[in-house]
This record gives sequence, C-alpha cells and structure tokens, in this order.
Amino acid sequence: MKTITSAELREKFQAFMESKGHHRIPSASVIPENDPTVLFTTAGMHPLVPYLMGTPHPAGTRLTDVQKCIRTGDIDDVGDPSHLTFFEMLGNWSLGDYFKKEAISWSWEFLTSPEYLGLDKDRLAFTVFAGNEDCPRDEESHAIWRSMGVAEDHLFYLPKENNWWGPAGITGPCGPDTEMFIITDKPACGPDCTPACSCGHYLEIWNDVFMQYNKQKDGSFLPLAKKNVDTGMGLERTICVLNGKKTVYETDAFTGILSRIAALCGHSYEESEETTRAFRIIADHMRTSTFILGDDRGVSPSNTDQGYILRRLIRRAVRYGMQLGMPEGFTAEIAKVIIEQYREAYPELSRNSAFVLEQLQLEESRFAKTLRQGNKEFDKVASRVQNGVIDGLSAFHLYDTFGFPIEMTVELARERGLSVDTAAFEENFKKHQELSHQGADQKFKGGLADQTVETARLHTATHLLHAALRKVLGDEVAQKGSNITAERLRFDFSFGRKVTKEELAQVEALVNEAIQADVPVVCEEMTVPEAKSKGAIGLFESKYGERVRTYKMGDYSFEICGGPHAEHTGELGSFKIIKEESSSAGVRRIKAVITGNN
Ligand code: ALA
Repeated sequence: MKTITSAELREKFQAFMESKGHHRIPSASVIPENDPTVLFTTAGMHPLVPYLMGTPHPAGTRLTDVQKCIRTGDIDDVGDPSHLTFFEMLGNWSLGDYFKKEAISWSWEFLTSPEYLGLDKDRLAFTVFAGNEDCPRDEESHAIWRSMGVAEDHLFYLPKENNWWGPAGITGPCGPDTEMFIITDKPACGPDCTPACSCGHYLEIWNDVFMQYNKQKDGSFLPLAKKNVDTGMGLERTICVLNGKKTVYETDAFTGILSRIAALCGHSYEESEETTRAFRIIADHMRTSTFILGDDRGVSPSNTDQGYILRRLIRRAVRYGMQLGMPEGFTAEIAKVIIEQYREAYPELSRNSAFVLEQLQLEESRFAKTLRQGNKEFDKVASRVQNGVIDGLSAFHLYDTFGFPIEMTVELARERGLSVDTAAFEENFKKHQELSHQGADQKFKGGLADQTVETARLHTATHLLHAALRKVLGDEVAQKGSNITAERLRFDFSFGRKVTKEELAQVEALVNEAIQADVPVVCEEMTVPEAKSKGAIGLFESKYGERVRTYKMGDYSFEICGGPHAEHTGELGSFKIIKEESSSAGVRRIKAVITGNN
C-alpha cells in the first residue's frame, strides 16, 4: 500500500477540487462568531451556513477547504483507539451550483483514480438514503454509483439515522447524504453486516450531503431556494486507513506528539494499557487545547462556554500527565511540538504561540495547586460516602472551590467504584449561575440562520467600539473575542492594563458620535491585500488571496467581517459601556448595551 502524509492528503484533495472549478478558502476559526447555539465549529459546513442559506459567497459557488473542527461531546471516550476532540475536515461545496451527479462522480474519481487515492473499487462500499415521510428514497444517487461501476452488493440503502446530515444546530440546512466506506481487513461480523455496523469491517471516510431542506423550529422541512452539496472527509481517519494503520495515533498526526510525551515522562506509549490510554488523552487534549488557544479568536481557560471546555481539556491532560510523572510545564512543551507540526497548514498557531504557551503554563500551575488540595478534599468526600454515591453539593464544592470539572469528579469516583449525583450537581450549578447572572437563558437563542435586527445592531456597535478603542488606546488593541446576546455585546481585546474611566468615557463618546452621524454601513468585497492596504482592521485569516467582505462606516470604522450588520449607524440609538474588566492576562473585556433604538 502506498503511504500518504497529512500534508499530501490536504494538498491532493484541494488540488483535485480546484481542477473541478472549486476555489480554496482558508479554514475558519474553531470558535464560531456570533453563533451562540454551538461552542465550536463542528464541521466544514458550519461557517458556511449563511451561504448555504442563499447569501452569495465572495469566492463563488464552488469552494474547497480544510476546516479545523472540534467536537467535544465524547471527551470521556478519548483514550480509546478512535475518538478525537479535534480533527481536520476536507470539504467541497456547491452553493446552488452542481448537485448529485457531479458530486458523486468526483468523489469516485478522487477515491479511485491512480493520480489521487487510487483505491481498488472492491475495497469501497457506499450507502444512500432509504427514504422516509420527509424525503423520498435516493434512487438517483444509487443509480449514479451504479453507473460508476459500483457492484450492487457494495451499495446499501440505509435509514435516516445513518444517511441524513444536519442541521448543525436546531434549525438550518440539511438533507440526505451518501457515505463512502473503506472495507478493512477485519472480516465482517456476520452475513447481515452493513456499513451501519460498528464491528470495524467498514470504516467511513467521506460523506456527500445533498442539502436541499431548511429545517424549521417546528420540526418541518422546507425546500431550500437553491440546492447545495456539502462534503466532509475526516483527515486523520482517512490517513489512518489509507496507510493501513490500526489507530489514528499511529499516523503522522500523532507520532511526533507521542514521542515528545515519551521523552518527557520516560515511559513508552505501549508500556501498558494504562500508559497507552494516558498518552492518547494527553495527545488529543493538548492538540485541541493548542488549536483553541492558538486560534485568532482564541480564548483563555475559564468557567463558562469555550473557556470551560478548554479548562476541562487542559486539566484532564494534566491529571493524566501527573499519573505518568510528567515534569511541571509539560503542557507547553507538548504544545510546542504541535505548533511546529502544523506551522504550514495553520500559521495562526505560530502567530499566537506566545499566548498559547503562557496560558497553558498559567492553567497548569493553577490546576496543580488546587489539585493537591482538591485531591485531599475528594478523599474526605469519598470516605464519607454512605450509599456509593457522592452527593451533588459535595461535587459542586469540589467544582467551585477546587476547580474540579464535574466530569473529573465522575471519573475519579468511577476509579473507586463510586458514582456522583450529577443531577443534584446540575441543580447546585444552576442556582449558582442564576446568582452570577450567567444563566443559559440569557444567551441569545438563534444561530447564523436566524439573525435578529437587534443582534445585527449590537454587532455593528462592536465594530464602532473596536475602532474607538484603537483610537483612544492605540493600535495594540486587537479583537480577541466577541459574543452577543439579545441584551448586550461583549468584546474582548488585547490591552495590557485597566482602561481608565476617562478613557472609557472617550470611547463611549466616539461611538455615540458615529451613531449620531447616522452614516451608512457600506459593504464591499475585495481581496485581503486590498483591504489591508486600504486600512481595514479585523482578522486576516485568508491565505489564498480570495475575496472577503469589508464593512465601512464613514471614517469611523473599516473592518473585514462576515456577520450581519445594520444599514445605518443611526439605527443603533445610544451606546453605553456597562462594564470593563480583566478577561485573562493581557486581555480586557467590555460589556456594553445599546438603547432607545426601536
Ligand atoms: N457536514 C457533513 C459532515 O460533517 C459533511 O459529515
């Protein structure tokens, strides 16, 4: 079998799609902007939702990319041979352009052509949608696969559980899909084995989704104005099967990281089942943490939202690191290998490496301290347990005072044959959230698919705030994060000290001046170098010189952005800063509201 590296697969896939008229677009951030329905980007299609819904994309109707994705639903399964919290997804899109015939024949060509993956057709199997009351059986895709030369017994009709994708959140684009599988050396588990079976005979590597519906809040499906194609190929998994490896950890995505772990702790990956599991958990969690911290919208560890997931990942890695006897500061040492490994594919990691290393060091030492105290407390709690169950209040106390994520308390309890009353923990947690006004109910409910006028206005105010901060505090101010609920905006930015009252008053006045001037918000598409040379601020994420959207508000603000905006600044009413505080080292946070704009 030919070997293929991650870098080669990235390049081959995108070059192939380019030869079919697709434009390469860079990976979007792992932290979705203004979409509070999900914490992380979970698929290549996610940042493209507005375009799948009909907004024209600046790069055209055929796109291809490699998207950084994070799925943290199965954190606790990481350690087994296959679960990962971070992965790269290769994708190609038709935005109302081609549909089933082209998508399937190109998938086939990429998989089987000797110039690309050169897979033997006898080693491939395919599934198509069997149909239900919402959408008919996909005989068209079946016929297309057959016309490619796929044998009847390599083609399966499967129900919605297997062959339907989306929406990414509650509402939005979705549709039937056709999935592609490699038939492995592992024999089928029986005569009824199909690709839906998890015995390991079939391994899914690619999915072509035919997005033709928009799921509504009431659960119904309306046809989309334009039909799209969304495809996703998991890079790590594909590299694994193509190179005949047993697990993703034996591929070039992980071998460098694992050998650094071994060098640091003096144990080997295969020493025992326990070390294998610990090595995998550390490698996976550090890779995901490095990508969260190293993102241009990177966040710090905290007790809410993405920051909480990040904290859980780092702390779980540290806990397993301690088991292996890792030296202090090991998380940053491993991150260095990861940053180096992905230097070319994701240059933002090196750009943000100082922040990554500093935050890891901080969190690791913070946790090491509380862990020592917390372990003692946990021992006390565990010794008090009567019926084998740790009560919710004790679990909450471990969380609140010692920073033990609940999942960690559950894991520690399990190691001793105990369980945790997680429902009671949740109750205590909710009570605490209500008290600190961080309840989930405050979160704006709605995603990119249903933006409200109010969000658009708050988002527009964020641009004005960003510009005003740079005017008053200087160019070192750069956006580090943005979050909008129905009530307020929150803006995180790099700045080394507290902003004074006087400075805040100046910033507020500048934003209100721009609002009173009631200038139009003008959107213009241009290339990144063009936007840069004209003085636009914002995230220069682009690598390939494709076109981006810019928004200009008179002389007040000029920024690269993809979000929803008001049409005139006058719509914003009146702007008021309600809080300025520290968010993390070197990062300040402002919360602000707009009023009188109905
Ligand atoms: N959006 C599809 C997936 O994630 C391609 O599998």
